[in-house]
Amino acid sequence: MGTTLEARVFTEDQEALVLKSWNEMKKNSAELSLKFFMKILEIAPAAKQLFSFLKDSNIPLEQNPKLKPHAISVFMMTCESAVQLRKAGKVTVRESNLKKLGATHFKAGVVAEHFEVTKLALLETIKEAVPEMWSPAMKNAWEEAHDQLANAIISEMKNAS
Ligand code: HEM
Repeated sequence: MGTTLEARVFTEDQEALVLKSWNEMKKNSAELSLKFFMKILEIAPAAKQLFSFLKDSNIPLEQNPKLKPHAISVFMMTCESAVQLRKAGKVTVRESNLKKLGATHFKAGVVAEHFEVTKLALLETIKEAVPEMWSPAMKNAWEEAHDQLANAIISEMKNAS
């Protein structure tokens, strides 16, 4: 992952790939959210302890109503990040939001390495959700949008520490 301020080229085609696939996936957002979360826990089972609504819960994962919002946030914010990257060349989440996100994640005990886990889970989920659209170019577009957003959150986590 590069630095937040680095202006990288994000093309109209890349933006279109991200939006086209999200448009298809959001129809199944409940199923998608669960898959995304299961993949995160498959790669890093200990991550369960980070989520206040999971660690002491006896509700089976697939029935936990709080699971969906985080997954949807990650997908939607990555899409927004893609749009902004194309328009402005950098992530421009409103500063107060980014600060809050940095603080929330820092307080929850999230570290930079966790973003690698969610990125892998994100890419795998998309690949399985839209196999007919999936391509190296689509992977690259999601990866770029994710990395820039993740870097922006990570640098706010450092400010919160
Ligand atoms: C909370 C987005 C990555 C773990 C949140 C919230 C949002 C969000 C919008 C709610 C914020 C609030 O209530 O103030 C994102 C985005 C990510 C990302 C866009 C990546 C691009 C991660 C990663 C982890 C993580 C890598 C660790 C595995 C958490 C936890 C909470 C949280 C533990 C608090 C949930 C709770 O206990 O209520 N995230 N997140 N997030 N996120 Fe993330």
